[in-house]
Formats: sequence, structure tokens, C-alpha cells
Amino acid sequence: MRRTQVGIVGAGPAGLMLGHLLHLRGIDSVILEVRGREYVIDRVRAGVLEQGTVDLLRGSGVGDRVLREGMRHEGIYLAFNGRRHRIDMTALTGGRAITIYGQNEVVKDLIEARVATGRPLHFEVGDVAPHGFEGDAPALRFTVDGEPHEVACDFIAGCDGFHGVCRSAAGNDLRVYEREYPFGWLGILAKAAPSSSELVYSNHERGFALFSMRSPAVTRLYLQCAPDEDLAEWPDERIWAELQARLQTDDGWHPNEGEILQKGVTGMRSFVAEPMRYHRLLLAGDAAHIVPPTGAKGLNLAMADVSRLASALAAFYETGSMRLLDEYSDRGLRRTWRAQRFSWWMTTMLHRVPGETPFDYRRQLAELDYLVSSRAAMTSLAENYVGTPFE
Ligand code: FAD
Ligand code: PHB
Repeated sequence: MRRTQVGIVGAGPAGLMLGHLLHLRGIDSVILEVRGREYVIDRVRAGVLEQGTVDLLRGSGVGDRVLREGMRHEGIYLAFNGRRHRIDMTALTGGRAITIYGQNEVVKDLIEARVATGRPLHFEVGDVAPHGFEGDAPALRFTVDGEPHEVACDFIAGCDGFHGVCRSAAGNDLRVYEREYPFGWLGILAKAAPSSSELVYSNHERGFALFSMRSPAVTRLYLQCAPDEDLAEWPDERIWAELQARLQTDDGWHPNEGEILQKGVTGMRSFVAEPMRYHRLLLAGDAAHIVPPTGAKGLNLAMADVSRLASALAAFYETGSMRLLDEYSDRGLRRTWRAQRFSWWMTTMLHRVPGETPFDYRRQLAELDYLVSSRAAMTSLAENYVGTPFE
């Protein structure tokens, strides 16, 4: 049977970054991923990196491309009642900013770094099953082309996302907090130059819409839809008409249109599983928690988790002390719940809710009006949006 120090399930941002940080500390790992390499790289998801995430990428030697190609943004716009209002995040937070750089680019950079180390990264493995983590002989069982394999390890890191196997392996001993939202996002990637240099979050009578981007030539746009919206009912013309209706403002601003390169629908949920450590099984990223994307926090929380986890594992291997591993969950949950609160707040402030009354909409507009006219309120949004430094 093969042996490694840390068995990592999932080659998303969390699993790949953990493997990379462990490698830098001389700790061996095996990464197992159920999907193929192209699928993992092409999956279009997050785009907003907190400064802590960019600092982590740079500090661990995988930041060259994000520094070269990432787009630093110092503000965002909130649009409502036909007007856009800028929140100057950098001025309000003493110089912090976010960077626009696609999650798939982060994943591409991390896969390249992993391959260069020669440490194992297996795509398209089947039937991954964590075993023995309640005792002191954990192991990962899996199949490759139908053949069974097993890797013995000291710890198992569950970085396998919301639908992975690791969280459920801990069974009923985890406590789960959950909230589903009665709407989703229809997202597109369009070959069109961004018509605003910063993101626009719009609360419109017809529903929420978001203007974002990936590069100077590619715009990313989202509109609120039903959680189970049928994409077949959304030909390109309907998508553009709806985006224009929800995003254009009285000053004449509107998104540029172009060829639609990708479309998808995502549901929205808030979810936390506690604790994040179960004996020798450690959960990180979406495997442990999900936030609705309105706060742009999911990928950043995953990065904060693995940064802390890598330090805790390094302390264990260097000194034999379990102290940081014992604290891993409590410290992570504090950050997680703050991000949950912020993401829930952004979501409920900006979306139409089926069954709401005119009172609810007027209350939202009043909240937005207060937000963009109070320095204290804007500072609170800015601090949460740019994120606090990782521990
Ligand atoms: P994942 O990326 O889900 O990776 C888990 C990996 O494990 C996957 O590759 C999966 O294939 C693999 N896996 C699953 N099961 C198994 C198994 N049994 N065995 C082996 N491997 C397995 N976050 C932000 O911070 N900012 C944003 O702007 C933002 N926007 C978003 C927009 C959308 C439309 C969506 C859907 C999400 C967005 N997010 C955003 C959230 C962000 O994408 C996730 O939080 C992030 O992907 C979490 O990374 P992860 O590595 O924990 O999980
Ligand atoms: C994105 O660009 O994909 C994006 C931006 C901001 C969000 C969510 C997603 O809040």
C-alpha cells in the first residue's frame, strides 16, 4: 500500500492550494480528483479575489500571472432607482482592494505548480472513500479504470466541494446550518469589452443583476432567475434584453453586448457544517461551507481555510503539537460566520423575493439609500467586501 502524509480529496482551489502550501513546507500529499483535468480548468465560477487571496498566491510563488493579468479594482457600484453609486473601497479601508482574476485561471496556475513538483495529482479517479480517520490509520480508497487502490495517510483533507464524499463520511456527528434561497443566478460570459471599469450590483424592480468581467475583452454578467430556471427558455436575445433592462442607468450607462461564450444557472444557499475537523478528517472550502455568491466570498473562504490548515499541519510535523489543528475549526468558523452574515445581507438587500410586498421593496431601497450616503455604512460594506487579512 502507498503512503503519504496528507491525503487530499478534490482538486478545486482548496485542494490544489493546500497541496501547494504543504509542498513548500516539505510535507507530502496525494491529491485525488473525480473529474478530468480539462473540466476542472474550464469550469467558470468565481472572479473576485480578496487581497488576502492574492497575497497568499504571491507569497507562495504562484502569483506571477495574477499580478500581471489580474485587474485591481478599488471600488464597486451599487445601482438602484436608475442611478449608480460608487463605493470607494480602497479609500474606506486604508488601501485594500480586490482583484478580478478567474477561478479557472487560479486553478490552472496551481495545477501547473503541482505538476512541476512531481507530487501525485490524479484526475478521473472513481469511488473515493475516506476510511479510518476516527483512529490513527486513515486511508483513502479509490479506483482507477475500475481497479481498486489505497493510500495510507496521517490526515485526510476533505476539499471535495459541497457535493463531495468527505463531509458525509463524518455522518451525523456534524451539525448543519442551512438556508436555501427561492432564486438562482443565470450567468453568462460574453465576448464584449467591459463598459464599466468596476463591478455593478443592481437592485432592479425586475430582479437583481450583476455586471462583472474577466479581462479587457470579456464581460461576465448575472441575472436573478428561478432556482431551477430552464436555460432553453433563454435565447441570447432574451438574456440581453433582461440584462439591459436591469442594468442600464439614467446616465445612459449599459453593458456592451457580444457573442455569448458560456451560459449556466446556479442555485443559492447558505450552509455551514460544524465542526470543520472530525478526528483526522479536516474539511476545507465548499466541503464545509457554502455562501450565496452575492458577497464574492466562497473562493476566498476556501483559501483562508487552507492557509490556516497548512500552518496547523506544518506545526504538527515540526513539533508534534496538535494545538493549531485543535484550533483549526473554531478559528475557521469565526471567519466563515462573518462571511455568512455578509453574504446573506448582500443577498437579501439586492434580490426580489417571491411573495414580497411593496413594503419590502421600499425598505430595500431605503437601506441602499442609507448605505450610499453614510460613510459609516459604506465603510462596513467595504471592509467586509475586501476581506480581512488571513491569519
Ligand atoms: P470546488 O471548487 O467545488 O472543488 C471541489 C473539487 O472536488 C471539484 O474539483 C470536484 O470535482 C472534486 N470532487 C467532488 N467530489 C469528489 C469526490 N468524491 N472525489 C474526488 N474529488 C471530488 N467565490 C468567490 O470567492 N468569489 C466569487 O466571485 C464567486 N463567484 C461564484 C460564482 C458562481 C456562479 C459560483 C457557482 C460560485 C462562485 N463562488 C465565488 C464560489 C466559489 O466558486 C467556490 O467557493 C469555490 O469553488 C470553492 O472551492 P473548493 O475547492 O472548496 O470547492
Ligand atoms: C464574478 O465575476 O463571477 C462575480 C463577481 C462578483 C460576485 C460574484 C461573482 O459577487
